[in-house]
Order: sequence, then structure tokens, then C-alpha cells
Amino acid sequence: MAQLFRRKPIAEARAEVGLDPQAVVEPGLRRSLTAWQLTALGIGAIIGAGIFSGAGTAVAGGPNHLGAGPALVISYILVAVACGFAALCYAEFASLIPQSGSAYTYAYATLGELVAWIIGWDLIIEYAVGNIAVAVSWSAYFQTLLRGFGMGFPEWLATDPRTALQAFSQLQADPTITAASIVDAARAWTTAPEIYGLRVIFNLPAVLIVALITWVLVIGIRESARVNTVMVVIKLAILFFFVAVGAFWVRPENWTPFAPNGWAGITAGAALIFFAYIGFDAVSTAAEEAENPQRDMPRAMIASLIVTSIIYVVVTLVMTGLIPWNQHGTADPLASAFVDRGYDWAAAIISIGAVVSMATVLLVFQLGQPRIFFSMARDGLLPGWAAKLHPKFRTPHVTTILTGVFVAFFAAFANINEVIELTNIGTLFAFVLVAIGVMVLRVREPERHRPFRTPFIWFVAPAAVLSCFYLMLQLPGVTWMRFVIWLVAGVFIYAAYGYRKSRLRRQRG
Ligand code: ALA
Repeated sequence: MAQLFRRKPIAEARAEVGLDPQAVVEPGLRRSLTAWQLTALGIGAIIGAGIFSGAGTAVAGGPNHLGAGPALVISYILVAVACGFAALCYAEFASLIPQSGSAYTYAYATLGELVAWIIGWDLIIEYAVGNIAVAVSWSAYFQTLLRGFGMGFPEWLATDPRTALQAFSQLQADPTITAASIVDAARAWTTAPEIYGLRVIFNLPAVLIVALITWVLVIGIRESARVNTVMVVIKLAILFFFVAVGAFWVRPENWTPFAPNGWAGITAGAALIFFAYIGFDAVSTAAEEAENPQRDMPRAMIASLIVTSIIYVVVTLVMTGLIPWNQHGTADPLASAFVDRGYDWAAAIISIGAVVSMATVLLVFQLGQPRIFFSMARDGLLPGWAAKLHPKFRTPHVTTILTGVFVAFFAAFANINEVIELTNIGTLFAFVLVAIGVMVLRVREPERHRPFRTPFIWFVAPAAVLSCFYLMLQLPGVTWMRFVIWLVAGVFIYAAYGYRKSRLRRQRG
């Protein structure tokens, strides 16, 4: 029983990554990332499908939730504050234990092995499952972009079977529907080839982008960070373009009514667009590749969160000023707001921005997931081959490729909305545990030197716990059920493998 709550000593964790001068460490991951590159990783991970796709239904409402209207700006501010509390807690841990396992590593040092395993298992939802949603969203924008050039994949190769069937039934029930996304998805159903009576429908562009990203990640961290930094510059330039040009076309009357569904709309919007903020924490998985992790990790996380919060608020203000709030419910709200106003050329530029932005999100999360597996395998909770590094590139190539195969397989068939909700609940849960962990460690080891200290810890950490838990409560029951099933499956796997193979257990009996 005590084994379940055995904690990994912080000194040991720090020695593993070469922060203890006495320790002899094997050559590990390659340390090359600067503070700027880390901040770019954060911005790369944060701005993506959440603003380019999710913001539309959050403003206009969807089948299962109320729309926030222009008051989505308030939702963005509220979630930024909640994430700010969580980021300050992450920052303390990231400077104290700069290991690539992120929340998993922090939990191992504070809350014990079982909780650490649960959180590691939970992070698969944030990283790998989150990327399934982003890959699907990327594919939709890419297809729109190709169409603009008169090209494109056949519909049955660019959607999933469930979305196709739903659209087909919708169109049968109401043949007057003209929305391109529904008409196209329905065409996938009617034109798909059949094998043994089964319709072949899958999302090929989503698979291809994941394969490309996986290849970049295997060949090296420096190459990956460079690719990311270039793409982040492009994405910021295009969002700047959206705001600078869109501001001239704003019609202030579109901001009234400001909150058509009141507080209920604002909180429903907040639970959805939480997805847009996920990613500042992903910086922490690059801790073992940072040149100066103790100083730069907290800075990069907090800076990337502040920059993106400001961008979200300004972009949402402009977006909701362009057209009436109830016309935003599309999968590409920033582009279609321009299209509705007749500026197709500007919409095309935004679509390019979306494709680039989502590619960086895919890159950073696909970078993070194998590094979490790497840390778990180093501790013996996953098989040893998961901790192997490529002899030349020094990247965790086995887990990078496995993650790519997992994400690509599910992205081929997944329905985006369900995946986003699952990602949100899983990530919020990780934030809650990290905030609890910071408090536990302050009590257990108050005298330990912390390169970064969470300010006003006894206010900030409880506020992080409460605000993240509140957002979890806004998510539907079915999401909770899926989440609990995932966690229970994880506990069984731990009982069957990690419990027996844990390095701490084998070292200390
Ligand atoms: N924050 C990331 C996005 O919005 C996950 O795509």
C-alpha cells in the first residue's frame, strides 16, 4: 500500500537531468532551446484550432450549448485568469524539477506513484487525443484552401464516417440546407466506394499532416524548434493582419446584444474555448532540452500565456464586430466572417494562417507526448524501449513514431467535437492536480530552494483548483463518463505493469 504513495525524491529527479554537479549522467536529450524558442513553443502550442475553429460555435451556440455572443470576450478573459493561476503553479514546478515528464514528474515528487501514473495516463488525453482534434480541424481548413485553388481531396477521403452519415441524414430531413460543410460531408456518404458493403470514408489529409510532423520530430529537436519558430512568426503576422484589416470593417452595432444568453452563454463558451489555451503547459515537456530550464521555463510559460490572451481578446472583439453574433456558427469563423462581408481574398489569407497555426500545435503536442512517455519509461512505469533515444538524432524516436501512429489512426475516423470536450476535461484535471501538488510540496519541503516561487500561493493555487474544477463541471455528463472509463482503464494497466516494474520499487524493495 505504501508503495502506491511512494514519492520520487526531487534530488534524484534533478540528478537525472544533470542539475546535480555530483551526478554522472548519461548523454540524454539535446540541450539547445533558448528562452525565445521556448516561448515560441508555447505560442506554437496555444494558438490553433481553439480560435480558428472553436470560437465560431462558442459565439453562436451549437446543438448542445448556448452561444456567448460578443461576450465571448469575457469567456476568454475568465479562462485566461484560470489558466494564469494554473500557469503560476506549473512555473514553480518546472523551475524546481525541470524534467520532460511535466505534470507526471511533478506528481511523482509530491503525490506519489499512483497519482503520478494516473496523471501520466491522463496527459495522453491532453496531448495525443487533443492532437486528434487539431489534425481533423487542420484537414478541414486545408481542404477549403485547396478548393480555393480549384483542387481538393474527394469528400470521402476528407471526413469521418459519422460526420458523413449525420450530414446525409440532415440533408434528407431538410433538402433546403445549403451550408457547404454539410453538403460536402453528405456527398462523402453518397460517393464513397464500398468494400464488402462497408463505405470507405476516412480523413486522409489528417493522416498525412500527422505523418509529416512525426518525421520532422524524429530528425531532431533543433530542427523541430526552428520549423516551429518560423511558423509562429507567420501565424502572428496573419492574426495581426486579421485585426488590422478587420478593424476597419467592424460595425459596432454587431456588438449588441453583447451577451444574448447572459452568464449561461458566457460559461458555456468558457468551457469550450478552454481548448484554445491548452499548450502553455506543453513548454514544460521540453525542460530537458532547454539551455537554462530553471530560469527560462517559468518565463516562457507565463509570457506565451499573456501574449496569447491579449491576441484572443482582440481577435474576438474584431470577429464579433464583423457580422451579427448568430451567424458565426461555422467551422472556420475567422475566414467566413470575411467571406460574409465579401472579402474573399482576405479570407484566403486567414485560411493559410489557420493551416500554419494548427501545424505548429500538432508539432508541439506531438513533441510533448513522447517525452512524457520517455520520463515514465525511465521510471520503469512503461517498458524500457520507450526510453530509448535515437543514436544519431537523440530524440525519443520509438515513442514519437508510436504517438504519430496513434494520432493518425484516430484522426482518420474521429468526430471533432467529442474529442475537444474529452481533451478539455483531461487537461483541466491535470491542472487541478498540479495546483494541489504545489501546495503539498510547500508544506512538506518548505525550505527547498525554488528558482521560481508561485506568488501568493495560498490564494493562487486554491483559485486554480476551484476555477479549473468549475470549468470541468460545465462539460457534459457523457464527457465525464468517457473520462472516468479512461482513468479506470489506466489504473488496471498500472496494477498489471507499472506497480511491479517501477524503478523506485525495485531499488528500494
Ligand atoms: N490550444 C490548442 C488549439 O487551440 C490546443 O489548437
